[in-house]
Amino acid sequence: MIGRYRALRKAGLLGINERNVRLVNELNPRRLIRLVDDKRETKRLANAANIPTPELYGVIANPFHMRHLESYLDKPDGVVIKPANGSQGNGIQVLMEPMRGGWRRSNGQRALLEDIRFHVNNILSGMYSLSGQPDVAMFEYRVKFDEIFNPISFGGVPDIRIIVVRGIPAVAMVRLPTAESDGKANLHKGGVGVGLDLVTGKTLSGMQNGKTTDIHPDTANPLRNFSVPHWDTMLEMASKAYDVTGLGYLGADIVLDKTKGPLLLELNARPGLAIQIANRIGIRPLLKATLEADTEGLDALGRVELARKLYRSHVPEPI
Ligand SMILES: Nc1ncnc2c1ncn2[C@@H]1O[C@H](COP(=O)(O)OP(=O)(O)O)[C@@H](O)[C@H]1O
Ligand SMILES: [Mg+2]
Repeated sequence: MIGRYRALRKAGLLGINERNVRLVNELNPRRLIRLVDDKRETKRLANAANIPTPELYGVIANPFHMRHLESYLDKPDGVVIKPANGSQGNGIQVLMEPMRGGWRRSNGQRALLEDIRFHVNNILSGMYSLSGQPDVAMFEYRVKFDEIFNPISFGGVPDIRIIVVRGIPAVAMVRLPTAESDGKANLHKGGVGVGLDLVTGKTLSGMQNGKTTDIHPDTANPLRNFSVPHWDTMLEMASKAYDVTGLGYLGADIVLDKTKGPLLLELNARPGLAIQIANRIGIRPLLKATLEADTEGLDALGRVELARKLYRSHVPEPI
């Protein structure tokens, strides 16, 4: 395994300093980063550009709004509560459906109205916000995941992370919730990251808590060879996110709803590099080509086509 990582480093594993200097600082002006640090703003921008997102039922921005809480929770198919400025899955509660005296959480436990009110107050106080500043609680449609993911998912919605450089999709992975990750797919919460072949949208190998794995830890099913449905649409949505925000380096988080199709969850202006481990590739050579590619006159679809060419010429076809 260590030999494998050495080989990866040699093959161009991108480090965190290089990411910060060459990608975040150079491609993402601070005023643009602000657009995506607030998930409400991202939703507004996306919807204006016809990129679908989970419906926003309402927000609680101060204690006075707390009187709306019960009406926001009054959804037979559940609701998701999240801090507008959160990250890494922190502060997100996935409520599955009402159950006697409260709501069933994705981990099977019951949340009472009092618990939820307490949680919303914590969000308002800024407990989960990136800057520690007071925050806003969002209430949104709970995505119902597509059955294709049943064998390799546990208790939540998988999300597809696509890294986009200068509007060109470059690398992707699907993140799968586990018993440990409590209804969320974030790697920091114990989700499994599975590399995706950018050209076909097929799953490759996986990793959890920094270690490579080829099976889902809860279902024990093999992770390889699933085709992510609507792959072309997802690539186009991710590429369009560049037109919408101007961010030269971004990570688009997309989920697949059973009936509504692909929905954009959020955009990240400082996406991490674990995606290289999930894909077992170092992205430096691909990145170099992506940074130098001529995109003049190309729209989102044109950039997706270019992305596939660049990827195939820098990443070997999976066996
Ligand atoms: N509307 C939703 N329906 C179902 N699950 C969701 C929803 N929003 C978020 N999640 C779960 O929580 C995870 C993190 O959500 P995200 O919006 O990307 O916030 P963060 O910035 O914390 O990563 C997602 O990967 C998904 O598994
Ligand atoms: Mg996310």
